[in-house]
Amino acid sequence: MELALSTARAKKRCAERGYIEDPYVSHFVADRGTGDPSMTRGYYARIRAIELTFPFGPRLVLGAGFDTSFWRCGGKAVEVDAPDVIRAKREIAKRNSLRVDGLDFVEADLNSFVPESSQPLIIAECVFAYLRNDNILDWASRQENVLVVIFEPLKSNDKFGKIMFENFGIRGWNLRTKTMDEWAVLPFQKVKALSMKTVCDRLLVGEEGARIRGLEPFDDPSEFDLLMSHYGLVLAANGTAVPFLDTLPFLLDD
Ligand SMILES: C[S@@+](CC[C@H](N)C(=O)[O-])C[C@H]1O[C@@H](n2cnc3c(N)ncnc32)[C@H](O)[C@@H]1O
Repeated sequence: MELALSTARAKKRCAERGYIEDPYVSHFVADRGTGDPSMTRGYYARIRAIELTFPFGPRLVLGAGFDTSFWRCGGKAVEVDAPDVIRAKREIAKRNSLRVDGLDFVEADLNSFVPESSQPLIIAECVFAYLRNDNILDWASRQENVLVVIFEPLKSNDKFGKIMFENFGIRGWNLRTKTMDEWAVLPFQKVKALSMKTVCDRLLVGEEGARIRGLEPFDDPSEFDLLMSHYGLVLAANGTAVPFLDTLPFLLDD
């Protein structure tokens, strides 16, 4: 539960500071949003990049936590998480009369979860690192037409990476993740693995990019770049998802 709540607090700060419009997140976390400006800008980029994949179709959201994208963006979704998180989410949605047509909740342990139906879009936003195995990723790689969107901290041996993972460990989270090179060779027909620094460089452009950068300007932008270079966005595609990748603005330069 704490994991879902801490992510929701960070996303709440995104809404409070004007990065995104989200009138729903405060139903799920009562306290103020948390995080510093660089984390918040990073959350914005992660939310925005993932949402750009939603036109691909109905989504299976693994470890959905208290993410509110179903209410903000619409579409159809199946959200999976641990029983305590799903029960709380269902209960809060009911208490606040949030729309649930088109939304299915599944209580499951993702270490042993096998989806009953196959949604074309699978979202795993900061989830795989907490699992003990890659079973669900292996299952997804066998689907014919599928886009798996993965956001993760990247394994790295540099000083910043070591401190970052030590800090997760202090909070009791011993993350199991991969390097960028390991993500890039997932067994799908096409895989794009980008650092969040690259995603930010490509997404934070134009009028919207200027608006976002102006919300909480940094004294030292290189610190933001360093932080973002330790997170990755991976798009793993089979079948009809392969040409869909060409429609994503942050992949146009590849
Ligand atoms: C860091 S949070 C991310 C939440 C959401 N994806 C987001 O970005 O807003 C990780 C989520 O994965 C869920 N999770 C971790 N391990 C899980 C497991 N074995 N089975 C089901 N859910 C799990 C947690 O409950 C939590 O909601």
